[in-house]
Amino acid sequence: MKPILVIHGPNLQLLGTRQVSIYGRVNLATINRRLRALASSLGVRLTILQSNHEGEMVEAIGRAKGRYAAIVINPAAYTHTSIAIRDAVEAVRVPTIEVHLSNIHAREAFRQQSLIAPVCRGQICGFGAESYLLGLQAALGLGRMGR
Ligand code: DQA
Repeated sequence: MKPILVIHGPNLQLLGTRQVSIYGRVNLATINRRLRALASSLGVRLTILQSNHEGEMVEAIGRAKGRYAAIVINPAAYTHTSIAIRDAVEAVRVPTIEVHLSNIHAREAFRQQSLIAPVCRGQICGFGAESYLLGLQAALGLGRMGR
């Protein structure tokens, strides 16, 4: 199986100390370690990228076609603003799962809309760091159960 690309968007390098009442105390290194442990137990390779730059995320998605089986992405604040990331996901046609630590639907009005979700296979949010692991499992489950 081709590897899975995990993309963490802006400010997620600050996890662990950033608004811990919303995002929790688990840092990005720990999330990545848990993702790699789950991936290796399931026999899949991961490429993990964190970027604070919209263009870099767009380029990573643009290069994904044919190279990755799926993308798991937390676009962070770009979720709510980035037509460029949405267009990249739509263009490459690599099945993409959007994840968020917080339940964006229970937060400020400006966070309740995702520009990216409509071009994703699905969205997982509200489970803290666990959202990423659920996202990876969803990516691996694509193709099963007729999806
Ligand atoms: C987030 C939610 C976004 O609204 C916010 O800008 C983030 C993190 C989440 O994982 O809950 O940076 O994507």
